[in-house]
This record gives sequence, C-alpha cells and structure tokens, in this order.
Amino acid sequence: MHTIRVKAEHEYDVVIGCQWKDQVLQAVSSHARVAIVYSGAMRERIKELAPSDCEIHYFEVADGEAAKSTQTLHSLWNWLGAAGFTRSDVVVGIGGGTITDLAGFAAATWLRGISWLAVPTTVAGMVDAAIGGKTGINSDYGKNLIGAFHSPQKVLIDTSWLETLSDRDFSAGLAEVIKSGFIADEKILQLLDAKSLSDIRSNAELVLDLITRSVAVKAHVVGSDFKESFNREILNYGHTLAHAIEIHSNYTVRHGEAVSIGLIFAAELAGIKAILDNQVIARHRHILAAVGLPTTYPKDAWHKLYPLLALDKKSRGHQLRFVAISAVGQTLRIEDANEDELATAYERISS
Ligand SMILES: NC(=O)c1ccc[n+]([C@@H]2O[C@H](COP(=O)([O-])OP(=O)(O)OC[C@H]3O[C@@H](n4cnc5c(N)ncnc54)[C@H](O)[C@@H]3O)[C@@H](O)[C@H]2O)c1
Repeated sequence: MHTIRVKAEHEYDVVIGCQWKDQVLQAVSSHARVAIVYSGAMRERIKELAPSDCEIHYFEVADGEAAKSTQTLHSLWNWLGAAGFTRSDVVVGIGGGTITDLAGFAAATWLRGISWLAVPTTVAGMVDAAIGGKTGINSDYGKNLIGAFHSPQKVLIDTSWLETLSDRDFSAGLAEVIKSGFIADEKILQLLDAKSLSDIRSNAELVLDLITRSVAVKAHVVGSDFKESFNREILNYGHTLAHAIEIHSNYTVRHGEAVSIGLIFAAELAGIKAILDNQVIARHRHILAAVGLPTTYPKDAWHKLYPLLALDKKSRGHQLRFVAISAVGQTLRIEDANEDELATAYERISS
C-alpha cells in the first residue's frame, strides 16, 4: 500500500493498492450517515460492504455521462434531503470519473459543502478524475460547465476494480498515464516500453506502479497550482485537439482516445516549431499505438475541428495556446502557432 499526500484547500491522502471496503468503513466511522453513490457497473461489488455502525444509504445513479446531468444531481439532492443528511455526514463516490465528479459536486453543494470520499474504479478515475479536487456536472451547453473545487477527504484506490473494466476503457485511461510520462516522469515511458495492453493488464505490479507514478505527477502539479492558474495547465498536454475531437465525434470517441490523438498532434506541432525532435514524436506514436489507442483522425474533419480549437479554456482572445514539450519532462507553451502550422500538424496525424 502506498500513500501520496495532495496539497489543496486541505491536505488529503490518496491511498493506492488498498482494500476499498476496509478503508471506506474506517474512513466513514466517525460520520453518522453515509451516502454511497455508484452506478449499475458497481452494483455487485457494492454488496460487499459489510454493515457498520453508521447509517448507510445507497444511491444508484445512471451510468456514464448521464450521471453528470442536472436531473441526476437533482435526484441526488432530493435523496440527501429525504435521508436527512447534515453537515457532519459524508458522501462516497464509487465509480469512474463520471460518478466521482457527480458525487464530489453533490458533496460540494449540499449544505455548502460536506465531506466526501472518492473510490475510483477506472484507470481514468484513479489517475485523473478523482485527484485534484475538480468536481462537476454537464450542462446543455457543454461538458463540465457546472462545477466546484472541492477536494475529497481521501481517495481510495483498489486496483482489483480494474479486473472487470473493458479493454477500451482501460486503454483510454492509459492515455492519461502516458501523458503524465511525457510531461513529468520518463520512468512511466520506460515501464511501458511499447508493451501491449494485455502485457500491461496481466501484470498487476506494473499496473500499480503506473497508477502510483501518475497519481504522483498529478498530485505534484495540483499541489503547486490548485485553481489552475498556470502550472496546472501542463496536465492539458494533448487536450486542446482532444476536446475538439470529442465534440466533433459527438462524444463517441472516448476522452482518452481523443487525448491519444491530441498528444501526437501537440508533438507534431512542437516538431514543426523545431522544439521537439523526431525521435520523441515517434515515441508518442509507438507507446500510444502499442496499448491500442488511436493515433489518427479523418483528414476531412480539420475544417470542423479548427474552429472548435478556439473553445479551449487555454485560449486568450483569438490566440490559441498549446501545451507542448521540448523533451520528456520539459513542458512549455506554444502561443504563436499560425493556421498553416496547425494544418500541417493535423495533416501528419490525419488518415
Ligand atoms: N474531475 C476531474 O478532474 C476529471 C478529470 C478527468 C476526467 N473527468 C471526468 O471523468 C469522466 C470520465 O471518466 P471515466 O473514463 O472513468 O468514465 P466513466 O465514469 O463513464 O466510466 C467508463 C465506463 O466504465 C464503466 N466502469 C466503471 N468502473 C468499472 C469497473 N470497475 N468495471 C467495469 N466497468 C466499469 C462505467 O460504467 C462506464 O460505462 C468524464 O465525465 C470526465 O469529464 C474528470
């Protein structure tokens, strides 16, 4: 078991390699009421929670992005109200990033903020969504537009959850692991060393190591910039094009899959700017492709993707900004990319 401390509005531990049931029961023991928020995919294992001295309420919500709807949040608030949740009670989100985002936001808003615990059950949840204190839901105008910074009391990572995760969701989560490697931890890239998805999934020790290292990268970055003013932007490596691809594909391309394509685009852009050498660009393709992630996107999509890039949160006025690397672990920003350079970078990743 490994613990990583995160500095945010309060300090908290991410406990990696733990047995989730024991840890949850221990962490909630001082609270009178506990709301367990989960979706159908976790239903069977939720039953493993042994009875405890506290009053446990089970709130099953819709799966996937539907969990992050205003309707689901409204039902959750009503449940909390009907069950008489007070300031000293606690919410536990058990699930992928959608569930921890919802549970965390319900906790952030109920009585102006009550405690919550995150038990992520996907790779993306473990290395990204549950760490960093961002909680939120979607609006009719886009993803994650409603939210709050509200860090959990603890994040409990039990990798046995990953046994039932689909290959597609597993590899999508690995895109964030690989991103962490390129921005801050070369050892992650060495550990992956173009291993296939099945090589990784069958090696529990390797999975634990990759998750621990990725959590350490995120914890370090958010600890130095909790509210995303500057440093935290490096976590968005590959995400500018990725967000445009998600919107363009109407979210049929998974976030991690879009990040995979976006990472190669950002690397190619840095190559065009003579910031990054070809070997490192090729290393992006090699590692991402090995775990089954996409590395190209249709050529004819560019004219629709280009205007979508301007919606990126990092844009300032009309100027697009991209997180880039000049070497593994060396991040910088590209703020002067012109339309031709962007089109050329896209040409290199298009199919
Ligand atoms: N708050 C943040 O900082 C942050 C960061 C990154 C992503 N996110 C959010 O996270 C969400 C994506 O998270 P995700 O990729 O975990 O998706 P998800 O929560 O939709 O889970 C993906 C799928 O895996 C299933 N699943 C989850 N755990 C499982 C398990 N153990 N076994 C079998 N199936 C399981 C789910 O039912 C779902 O169908 C997005 O909404 C994104 O906006 C938030």
